[in-house]
Amino acid sequence: MQNDHEFSYTKADFARVAELIYQRAGIRLNDSKQQMVYSRLARRLRALQIDTFSRYLSALAQNPDSEEWQQFTNALTTNLTSFFREPHHFEALARQMQQTDARPFRIWCAAASTGEEPYSLAMTAMEAYQSACPAVQIIASDLDTHVLATAAQGVYALDRLDKLSLERKKGFFLKGAGINAGKVRAKKALREMIEFKQINLLDSRWPLDGKFDAIFCRNVMIYFDQATQRVILEKIAGLLKPNGTLYVGHSENLHFMSDWYRSAGKTTYQLTEHAKAARGKP
Ligand SMILES: C[S@@+](CC[C@H](N)C(=O)[O-])C[C@H]1O[C@@H](n2cnc3c(N)ncnc32)[C@H](O)[C@@H]1O
Repeated sequence: MQNDHEFSYTKADFARVAELIYQRAGIRLNDSKQQMVYSRLARRLRALQIDTFSRYLSALAQNPDSEEWQQFTNALTTNLTSFFREPHHFEALARQMQQTDARPFRIWCAAASTGEEPYSLAMTAMEAYQSACPAVQIIASDLDTHVLATAAQGVYALDRLDKLSLERKKGFFLKGAGINAGKVRAKKALREMIEFKQINLLDSRWPLDGKFDAIFCRNVMIYFDQATQRVILEKIAGLLKPNGTLYVGHSENLHFMSDWYRSAGKTTYQLTEHAKAARGKP
């Protein structure tokens, strides 16, 4: 470990961080993340005027209800996302919407990050139903409260929209002026389709009612080990309608859960008959 750090930081400190975030969020940090952890948490030590990682981590461990836990967690999540990321999923979703009479069509976006994904879902719904007010309900959740606040605001730097067609830019966003020049905001109709809430996928109970036609749980399971993924995927099965679809990220696959999920297209899955029978059973 380098010694030219502003704060004392040892291998044992890194191991402790890795253990704490694993217990809290299921996130696995391998040794290649040592420097990333230092730079992300150094900001917290600076803000709290604590001079060593060891003191910071002891204070956390001794105060399980401290608000600092949320800051610690927010600092260690990776929130990379973009509008219409993995575009084939939005095309598949539009087809799914057009092929079902479910009203409202219910979607849970389970790792929504800064909101680009749920707003892409809302745009897809408006386009698929050719309506400014489609019968679609979207619940967008994340563990990280900081990104959720950004998502609920729906304000983005203009260049985040670079890959969107002019029609989508004009149809779904308002350009900021004055101090908001260079920014855009998702239009009210788009924002009103989405309910934002904090959900930790690791929690034993998720504050969700009813079943969903589509669940987007993309690019988050890569941070979990397989045992954690299995627990989460079995719980997700309990929330899918019998013909519902689970959308996962490009590097995630559910081969190890083939008793529960069958492939329904490129990184999309539906429940097997076994899963439909088994889910919900104690
Ligand atoms: C890389 S982003 C993926 C965002 C989006 N789904 C996409 O594919 O573009 C991963 C997100 O998962 C969230 N996350 C990590 N651990 C989580 C957990 N235990 N429960 C809920 N969300 C979690 C992070 O805060 C982050 O915003």
